[in-house]
Amino acid sequence: MSDPLLRFRDRFPILETTTYLVSNSLGAMPRSVADRLAEYAHEWATRGVRAWAERWWEMPISVGDEIAPLIGAGAAEVAMVPNVSLAQAQVLSALDYSSPRDTIVMTALDFPSVRYVYDELATRLGARIVVVPSDDGVGVSEERLIEAIDERTRLVAISHVLFRSAYVMDVARIAARAHAMGALVSLDAYHSVGVLPVDVEALGADFLTGGVLKWLCGGPGGCFLWVRPEVGETIAPALTGWQAHRHPFAFEPEMEYADAAWRWLGGTPVIPALFAATEGPRILRDVGIDDVRAKSIRQTSRLIALADARGYSVTAPRDSARRGGTVAFDVPHAREVALALLASDVIVDYRPGAGIRVAPHFYTSDEEIEAAVELIDDILAHERWRRYADTVHVVS
Ligand SMILES: Cc1ncc(COP(=O)(O)O)c(C=O)c1O
Repeated sequence: MSDPLLRFRDRFPILETTTYLVSNSLGAMPRSVADRLAEYAHEWATRGVRAWAERWWEMPISVGDEIAPLIGAGAAEVAMVPNVSLAQAQVLSALDYSSPRDTIVMTALDFPSVRYVYDELATRLGARIVVVPSDDGVGVSEERLIEAIDERTRLVAISHVLFRSAYVMDVARIAARAHAMGALVSLDAYHSVGVLPVDVEALGADFLTGGVLKWLCGGPGGCFLWVRPEVGETIAPALTGWQAHRHPFAFEPEMEYADAAWRWLGGTPVIPALFAATEGPRILRDVGIDDVRAKSIRQTSRLIALADARGYSVTAPRDSARRGGTVAFDVPHAREVALALLASDVIVDYRPGAGIRVAPHFYTSDEEIEAAVELIDDILAHERWRRYADTVHVVS
């Protein structure tokens, strides 16, 4: 069967030499990123400080405009920021936690770095954090989340797709409850944008954070924050900087917040990361997210069938509507098997408690998936994993 999405493969050099199954961690680099980075160096070399006025200063917003169509947002609504932990901290820092609205509802399966920010910063701002547990380490019951949201809730801060299991949360349902109770919703969409259709309106998010690093193939340093315009008008982050000032070059001593997405910027932006960040999202837009999603469901279903046939436990949800882009196989000796795969240029990662994580993307062929699983069979059958028993190397 021919796969029309494979026509994009030649845009990604690493696919010539590896089986690249790790787009849940670091998406493959588009070839054209090298040109963009050369352009950055050329501007610095030849335009020098003039480059700020010519376009660098505006890049956190102009690059955000490249992301906006992928999340259903409008122009000038998305701010580029260096990482999601910081973006979530900005959201947190914009709200008031005085009684009776003093509570933030989260889940036990949100990304640890985001949890650290909430635990450390929100509590210092006077917030009480309620963490909804997971019974199985795979999903979080929406009923329990809904019960946890009440008149004390200021913010519901959850993930769209849970990083450990690729479980897709029913965000619209949770957001409906949050809004009915007068709370706001902050969505960490790092594991959905680029592999699942995402629409801030349909989801009911008030804040959405994500990054181009993984499924959007845009490299490190290109994270984004969208704030619902009606909400953004009424609040401003305490965690701020001069790019968020209405007149940054007036160097006024007092803060006067700019409008729209500018309000959510900080200090000097990381320009090289922004040059690299646009190529992947443009390709994803050309491919079309619905086609990316349909292929992802087909290939993750096939991976689950291959794991089942071998008796490996799999944490990825069986219901494809509830499953993101990654399937983790708990094969015996998973850490060592992952190292043996890496040594054969089959790039996967390993996480304790989950096993080998396999993440096909639109550029992955069906043959690569079959061959990777056959290679796992071979590594186990010939005990080739034993060579790596003493290797302490951290897998991607
Ligand atoms: C769901 C989720 N949120 C956040 C992050 C990372 O955030 P940061 O950009 O602060 O490193 C990750 C990284 O893997 C993630 O999976």
